Amino acid sequence: MKKLVAGNWKMNLLPSQVSDYSKSFLAEVGKLDGVDLLLCPSDTALPAAVEAFRNSRVRVGAQNMHSTRSGAFTGETSGEMLADIGVTHVLLGHSERRHVFGEDDELIYAKLVLAHKLGLKPILCVGEKQEQRESGSTEQVLREQFEGSLGRVSNELLAATIVAYEPVWAIGTGLTATPEIAQQAHRFLRSLLGEKLGEAASTVPILYGGSVKPANAAELMSQPDIDGVLVGGASLKPDSFAAIAKATL
Ligand code: PGA
Repeated sequence: MKKLVAGNWKMNLLPSQVSDYSKSFLAEVGKLDGVDLLLCPSDTALPAAVEAFRNSRVRVGAQNMHSTRSGAFTGETSGEMLADIGVTHVLLGHSERRHVFGEDDELIYAKLVLAHKLGLKPILCVGEKQEQRESGSTEQVLREQFEGSLGRVSNELLAATIVAYEPVWAIGTGLTATPEIAQQAHRFLRSLLGEKLGEAASTVPILYGGSVKPANAAELMSQPDIDGVLVGGASLKPDSFAAIAKATL
């Protein structure tokens, strides 16, 4: 499968900055056809991003969505609203959603099922905290998050999901998991997929996220079970995000 390089702008960049970003980024990567590209801007920048990347190789995703289609949920955005403007992917269960906004596996499961129903491709994020790694419970945490949000999903939907391993201690800290540590977690996630999907587990992309930069992207993606990256800080500048995309080739 082609590598997937995904950017998560988090709560950064304005709608008015999207056009300049897209011009610089597309000038660098517009012709790279060996890699799949995705950008997840904030909700207000989504329409500008969908417009700027129309007819390009870059897909546009959201960073979150509500677990129901519509209703009295002041301040929330529904998946239907995202799909309606041309968004194709949605991040779910990002560690900031889990640990800053208190989302649990049950809620993430509801969002994931709805995203599939609406034709949005979910990217399910999982990852352990520093103290969980230090106490040796990384695999137990990954299994709990995986089963809590994917355990009851049909094999068909599971096979159409993207998984992202994002160790919480590596996000925004400058501490990247070594390629070996990342590969070990990815192999474990692949085995969890394999328990349900058998051979087809190899077709589900598992992305690595956590302080990915142009300097470490190629080595991370050379690992057998790392199918791409989810990039926060280094996706905010088109040149560094483009350098990461080129590191796949
Ligand atoms: P980072 O964020 O690359 O800034 O560490 C990654 C993420 O949270 O997806």
